[in-house]
Amino acid sequence: MTVRAVIEGAGHYLPERVVPNSWFEGWLDTSDEWIRSRSGIERRRFAADDEATSDLATHAARAALDAAGLNVDDIDGVIVATSTPDLTFPSVATMVQRDLGMTHGFGFDVQAVCAGFIYALTNANALIIAGQARRLLVIGAETFSRIMDWQDRSTCVLFGDGAGAVVLSAQEGNGTPDDRGILSADLNSDGRYREMLYVDGGVSTTGDAGKLRMQGNPLFRQAVEKLTETADVALEKIGLSGSDVDWIVPHQANIRIIQGTARKMGVPMDRVILTVQDHGNTSAASIPLALSVGAADGRIRKGDLVLSEAIGGGLAWGAVALRW
Ligand code: UT7
Repeated sequence: MTVRAVIEGAGHYLPERVVPNSWFEGWLDTSDEWIRSRSGIERRRFAADDEATSDLATHAARAALDAAGLNVDDIDGVIVATSTPDLTFPSVATMVQRDLGMTHGFGFDVQAVCAGFIYALTNANALIIAGQARRLLVIGAETFSRIMDWQDRSTCVLFGDGAGAVVLSAQEGNGTPDDRGILSADLNSDGRYREMLYVDGGVSTTGDAGKLRMQGNPLFRQAVEKLTETADVALEKIGLSGSDVDWIVPHQANIRIIQGTARKMGVPMDRVILTVQDHGNTSAASIPLALSVGAADGRIRKGDLVLSEAIGGGLAWGAVALRW
């Protein structure tokens, strides 16, 4: 008997405020045409002033519990992937516990920037396989609008706010890639790439939250190469390849990165879940948001092989292969 961590339900939450590309034309030397053609982004959501990351995360968690037909008493722990926490501490996960009325179990945050959800899923899978938990809420939630430099046209047009969540639960499998659940994962990071994507503030340096800085073009080139490699490694671990994949559910940073990676993997674009046009880059929230959208509209179905990959600040990158 093999223990598998199976997704029982997915949900998401997007803040009400929709911001079209044209909004930036008012004060920045940019255009809807440039943003669409270079990134694929048409609009994004920004959280309200009184909405924090934990609020977004809690809404998404409730939606995932509803989709799974479960309530908070069924959950053993909460893991939140985020780089934009409400406070330096405590973790967003403990605030989600509080807001869900969950007085048992544990909660902690994972910080691997845009790869955060891949890291969180991999950790959750390990906890379930080790018998530390039977059911976990795994959430990606971000308010990147709070760390934008609104005068930097090369970054502020790209990011958005949102949250996505899944309920992962222990189920029995037979140890083959036909099992439902997480089948393999590949994690990587390399701190030599720090300058490509970082935030220029923090607790032990400037004492404030700082603003996001990115060298977009060099990062773009790293992204396609590293995402293809990590996706291949995750699939090779279970003896599968791109042709076995029903859905790529990628990190949604740039449609051209997504297209380049899919092409290199030999997966046609009609088997890729795309949300970048509506959400922009929501960092650790982008994959669970896309999983939730794809499941809710009936594209991702029970038994489908899903491959998710992501790269972000660090650089940190990785992939997870799972059967829905
Ligand atoms: O989620 C974490 C991972 N993130 C990523 O992987 C993002 C990776 N990078 C990208 O998505 C792309 O590199 C960008 C969308 C950021 C930029 O696209 P690009 O094709 O790499 O453009 P570029 O940076 O080479 O810039 C081309 C031109 C430059 O002008 P010059 O030097 O050619 O005169 C930029 O100054 O576009 C200019 N530019 C803009 N123009 C209008 C940069 N930002 C803008 C803008 N509007 N918002």
